[in-house]
Amino acid sequence: MQECSNFRWSSDCAGKESAEKSTRDKSAREKNSGEKSKTILHGGDIFTASRRYGIPVNQWIDLSTGINPDPYPVRDIPSTAFQSLPYESPEFLEQASAYYGNASLLPVCGTQMAIQALPYCLPSAPVLIPEIGYQEHAAQWIKSGAEVSRYPSFDVQVCRRWIEQRINENSRCHLVIINPNNPTGLRFSPEQLKQWAERLDQGGFLIVDEAFMDLTPGDSVLSHHFSSNMIVLRSFGKFFGLAGLRLGFVFAQEAILRRLREHCGVWTVNGPAQAIAAEAFADTAWQQNARERIAIAAEYTESLMRPIVDRMEPLQRIREGLFSSYLVKTDVALEAQNFLAQKGILVRVVDVDESYSLLRTGLLNPEHMHKCQRVEQAASTFTLSFEEDRR
Ligand SMILES: Cc1ncc(COP(=O)(O)O)c(C=O)c1O
Repeated sequence: MQECSNFRWSSDCAGKESAEKSTRDKSAREKNSGEKSKTILHGGDIFTASRRYGIPVNQWIDLSTGINPDPYPVRDIPSTAFQSLPYESPEFLEQASAYYGNASLLPVCGTQMAIQALPYCLPSAPVLIPEIGYQEHAAQWIKSGAEVSRYPSFDVQVCRRWIEQRINENSRCHLVIINPNNPTGLRFSPEQLKQWAERLDQGGFLIVDEAFMDLTPGDSVLSHHFSSNMIVLRSFGKFFGLAGLRLGFVFAQEAILRRLREHCGVWTVNGPAQAIAAEAFADTAWQQNARERIAIAAEYTESLMRPIVDRMEPLQRIREGLFSSYLVKTDVALEAQNFLAQKGILVRVVDVDESYSLLRTGLLNPEHMHKCQRVEQAASTFTLSFEEDRR
């Protein structure tokens, strides 16, 4: 178990510390401008897993991210894309605007770049951020010295009540919503988000992280519910399965885009990324097919994992298109993670509180038969240590 704990610590340390902190001192946390930012390591770190478990990199099955395992096929890239300086090509910008249904955009090398820049490009104000969710939002605002409050991010009603109360108390704040939330699956309607944006006072912005919105584009705020004080982030790598390309988009009013552009500098998106994305955005047939294939892959992966999940007796099962999360006792989640890692299968554990965690799994491509068989076989031999003790 020792190895497992270390490994979990390395991949989720920020979430853990945040959860511990939340139980230690809630009121201090609400005024945590003095809180130190933490180093966050993310899912998909096969190199670290390989070192920890002594299994070669090419033998791992990575279920620790929410990236489409059936990526957009990269065809021939014109050599000019490599040779020329990567000014934003009109075709790339037009295709992106058409795909997202909004032309007030700035391309960046992954939305992570925008998450890092935003605290320095918006007016100073308190920031409301989900307690559980992509931890970089909280980390970057805390690092900038902002006053950060964390809101409950599992239950829609509880979360809504919390946010409304805070906006009633002080409407001059920034509100960060990850929609849908990774890893809790929490979702809000575009109408609800627009209403919150309208209730924030001048200088208060609603930041909507739509990294996982491509499967349900009708729920995006971008085409019909966009407001001038919204900042919307769209990640290219997840749905298109090309996270290594490092591409994302920020949508905002012109003044904010200008500040972000100045902050991030020129040539943030390389030429090959622009060429591939322009083609992928125009390929509506691939997109439609990908949505269907992802639904099949999610169902299939869930069925392969079911023997493990059932044994863990989760309090909640969440399926969110490109990932599934299971709310289980932390020791059980860690045991399952360690068991799978010893077989070269990487899953993610995200701490929720002092007793519970989310075990999160990405998708397997059903066409990768050998990988599927390995997961199926691992799942069929999984038992928890307390079950073995009983024998
Ligand atoms: C919710 C969410 N937002 C943003 C990101 C950053 O993604 P990228 O920088 O690849 O666009 C991630 C990465 O996992 C994420 O889960």
